[in-house]
Amino acid sequence: MSKPEEIQKKKYEPFQNPKGVHDILPADQEFYTYIKKVVRHRARQAGFRRITTPIFEFAEVFNRSIGAGSDIVSKEMYVFEDKKGRSLALKPESTAPVVRSYIQNNMNQWPQPVLLFYIEPHFRYDRPQKGRYRQFWQFGFEIIGESDPALDAQLIQLAIKIHGDLGIADFFSLQLNTIGTPESRKKYAGILQDYYVGKERSLCEDCKVRLGINPLRLLDCKAEDCQILAQMAPQMRDYLDKESLEFHEELKGYLDEIEIPYVENQRLVRGLDYYSKTVFEFWDKEEGAQNAVGGGGRYDGLVELMGGQPTPAVGYAAGIERIIANMKREKIRVPSKDELHVFVAQLGNEAKKKCLNLIEDMRESGIKTMGALGKGSINIQLRIADKFKVPYSVIIGITEVREGVAIIRDMKKGVQETVKMDKVVPKLVKLIGEKNLDRYTPGELLYS
Ligand code: HAM
Repeated sequence: MSKPEEIQKKKYEPFQNPKGVHDILPADQEFYTYIKKVVRHRARQAGFRRITTPIFEFAEVFNRSIGAGSDIVSKEMYVFEDKKGRSLALKPESTAPVVRSYIQNNMNQWPQPVLLFYIEPHFRYDRPQKGRYRQFWQFGFEIIGESDPALDAQLIQLAIKIHGDLGIADFFSLQLNTIGTPESRKKYAGILQDYYVGKERSLCEDCKVRLGINPLRLLDCKAEDCQILAQMAPQMRDYLDKESLEFHEELKGYLDEIEIPYVENQRLVRGLDYYSKTVFEFWDKEEGAQNAVGGGGRYDGLVELMGGQPTPAVGYAAGIERIIANMKREKIRVPSKDELHVFVAQLGNEAKKKCLNLIEDMRESGIKTMGALGKGSINIQLRIADKFKVPYSVIIGITEVREGVAIIRDMKKGVQETVKMDKVVPKLVKLIGEKNLDRYTPGELLYS
């Protein structure tokens, strides 16, 4: 046995987060905060109200809506059993949960259509790569209870407005299609299956499986051979119902009216089963479908499929990480509210005590303040202040305590002045400027 002094302390390996998920560090939080602000603002302007559904649902909510044959349900869902053996899933998207909630909360009794928006994390066991994560954030809009192509047009307009606010609208092209009613689509799916008879060997492994379950997905497969075959396949439009085609023409008329350019893409089918009629995606103009920033469409049959009354609906969701990646590539900066105004440096115990009250007063006045923590000399503390890039420092040493004053130092100019303790806050407010203060008055915001 080794002697106690020879027992080595075990060195632990530091933890890493699981593949495909990441921390949102303070610098990136500023992007999230800003995007959320834009979304909330534009949503409110258009009459949308926010909804938050749980992070997990019964897995069946997604199986039935997105479809058991879809990639999301068959490969990408985080499914687990709870202690009673019920099958639950982390939500891979929010349309199905929102519809579940619409039915459960009798929202059909609310004025129709019901306009809801959400900003939420979602989970998909995707293969992690650029723009593809296992936890990602989406903002989304759902309009439930009305069927009118003008709503589809308005939703697309809202999405573009938000992309514009974030400085990324120009990088994406609107891809538009109609996939008709489920009945007409079923007819077309049969025609498509017939077309692929004898061609199966040229298909990718995924498409070989998809052919039996969801042949429409073969149309938007990215594999080269699959694409060649898809190009020669019978056209969906030739088999769709008249009503869907008319609806589509009307929608295009509205888009023309509001001058929104679109690319008619007859092979756009979307990867979720619940769509009918309108489908659309915003494709990266350079990378195509690979890094679509968002997508949506009409889902007129979903409320009924989930156990409600037949109720038409349309929605859109965008990926926040992909938006941020585009903003960063273009060096688009967002306003930061994190920057500190003042660092308080002090020397001696008495000064520290005085500082605690002063710091509290400064913060209450909206001055973003840090300090009263160092044990080092004033100079060392001022060097820290420099690192935090504060415009002003307040310095209180033994002399200042005795005389009831404080020194305010302009860090950029390197000049300083001594002011009476009770004048420190008003003086700083003046220097920083009313409009730059971070005032928080929760009491005033409440009303009864
Ligand atoms: P989706 O096309 O599956 O649609 O997702 C919308 C957007 O979420 C994508 O365009 C992409 O920007 C982002 N996204 C999806 N998966 C990932 C991932 N693994 N990593 C990063 N970003 C991702 C839906 O989810 C539908 N619920 C949209 C909708 C709303 N349809 C009607 N209403």
